[in-house]
Amino acid sequence: MHSGAASQGHPRASWLGPRQTMLEVFIALLSCVVRCIRAFVMEVIIQPSQEAASLLAAKMIASLVRRKPAAVLGLATGSTPLGLYRELARMHREEGLDFQRATTFNLDEYVGLAPGHPASYHHFMRENLFRHINVAPENTHIPDGLSCDIPATCEAYEASIRAAGGIDLQILGIGSDGHIGFNEPASSLASRTRIKTLTPRTRADNAPFFAQGEEVPHHVITMGIGTILETRQVLLLGFGLKKAEALAAAIEGPVSPMVPASALHFHPRAHVILDEAAATRLERTDYYRHVFDNKPVWQKQ
Ligand code: PGA
Repeated sequence: MHSGAASQGHPRASWLGPRQTMLEVFIALLSCVVRCIRAFVMEVIIQPSQEAASLLAAKMIASLVRRKPAAVLGLATGSTPLGLYRELARMHREEGLDFQRATTFNLDEYVGLAPGHPASYHHFMRENLFRHINVAPENTHIPDGLSCDIPATCEAYEASIRAAGGIDLQILGIGSDGHIGFNEPASSLASRTRIKTLTPRTRADNAPFFAQGEEVPHHVITMGIGTILETRQVLLLGFGLKKAEALAAAIEGPVSPMVPASALHFHPRAHVILDEAAATRLERTDYYRHVFDNKPVWQKQ
């Protein structure tokens, strides 16, 4: 029955190969559709605690680094990824997770802070991750906050991401105002690495990282939303009640430059990993839990 139509004298469609049946073509098309569906997901994963969420994120990163030792990782700073970085350091120490061939790009840096400044993101990354793993210092990239030519620095940063082959997996936190990186509300959804002015709310949120009485810088260099959307996979982490409103707006509200994290609906593969407190303003938590608990096997890979 295999060669049915053709053997009975009906001409085969010209785009069919000599051995392809309609059934095989149908299966090929179906698997193409499945791949496309797989490629466009915003997956909301609610974990019982910040610790459980950080461990899950660390497992996802470790699985990438084991599969692709020369992975390009996009890194974030702030209090959110601290548990994740602790777990990656533990995996390196106790399980031999190897970052030797990995490359990293950080999202942002304050303009005017030297790499040695305790509130700089250079310092943060050194203290909280880089000195605990075996990533090669020359493979780590953080925007230069002391640059005398910021536009050239930003252009070069984008060029070095491209030269590294693009970012395989980007870690993100979310600001209480919905920012990702330092893309504050009203940022262009197509923005690239550039200088940004912080809102008073973000400066107040970040004041605890600075010494008492020290001014939080007004300006930063940040990857743009367009830069983030080009990464191959995103893990957005959000913990605590303080992030609940921004997360609900980003996940269940309309896509809007006023909630920069909502742009992740356009990302081909975004995972949002929350603790219970951060999920309290979401309306469809039962559905997100059901989807995660019943994930098809092929989606778990
Ligand atoms: P936080 O900041 O992790 O310190 O809460 C997140 C962010 O501003 O992106």
